[in-house]
Amino acid sequence: MITITFSAIKGGVGKSSIAILLANILNKSGLKVLCIDADPQNSMSFYYLPDSRDITASLANILNNFSDIKENIVTTDIGIDLIPSSLDLINCRNVDTDILSKQLKKINKIYDYCIIDTAPTFDNIVHNCILSADKIISPVQFSNFDYKSSLFYKNLMCELGLESKWHILINKCKTFRTGTSITAQFFDIYNSSFSNILKNRIPDTSLIKHYFDTGANITKSKVKIYDALIDLTSEIVENKVEVGAF
Ligand SMILES: Nc1ncnc2c1ncn2[C@@H]1O[C@H](COP(=O)(O)OP(=O)(O)O)[C@@H](O)[C@H]1O
Ligand SMILES: [Mg+2]
Repeated sequence: MITITFSAIKGGVGKSSIAILLANILNKSGLKVLCIDADPQNSMSFYYLPDSRDITASLANILNNFSDIKENIVTTDIGIDLIPSSLDLINCRNVDTDILSKQLKKINKIYDYCIIDTAPTFDNIVHNCILSADKIISPVQFSNFDYKSSLFYKNLMCELGLESKWHILINKCKTFRTGTSITAQFFDIYNSSFSNILKNRIPDTSLIKHYFDTGANITKSKVKIYDALIDLTSEIVENKVEVGAF
């Protein structure tokens, strides 16, 4: 099992959206996927389990050592397995940082990929998630705050010795042609500060919101976003991924 954790200090950058899209593409391509929602804000859990009234499974039970990881996995309608979040996660901010990685070893052989979504912060829940990861992906946009928080994150990754696992994903990227536009200037600034930027960028498009609002598939006819997401997935998993629609 390869574990990919989406993490960034900033909210609204696309962690949950891209984590879910990546999981859905991998699932559609026939791979066995486990998602973990480590954000008490619940985006990923709400997407996969809109009605979670009777669900007691939660990452909080695992981090609090209340129950085993296998008891906290829910199978969703589309075949992806999920460890949901819950508000109890709020009380897990000071747990030991190696609990999740130890628990994940128990299910290592069951899944091809584990995709983890985290909250926009750095506490011991996020620390558990990044210590469990084979790859850590931080989506960013072109803004000064994103740039500064990426520098902050870079220091954090270096301090933890995780810089080789860390990748920046440029999300909500506006089209640019000339070297004078704000977008092009940020592109240069990012490239001169970071050597770990994923080659495939995700364009700024209302189709992402549409996907989550309506549940409509992204098909090959939506060429730009379809290609961007398929190429990004292939880059992240280091293998050509092929699916008709997702
Ligand atoms: N590439 C994109 N183009 C346009 N909107 C996007 C894109 N990626 C994400 N969004 C939108 O941005 C908002 C925040 O995304 P979300 O995944 O919830 O961010 P985070 O999990 O980092 O807080 C959502 O409304 C989502 O639809
Ligand atoms: Mg989120």
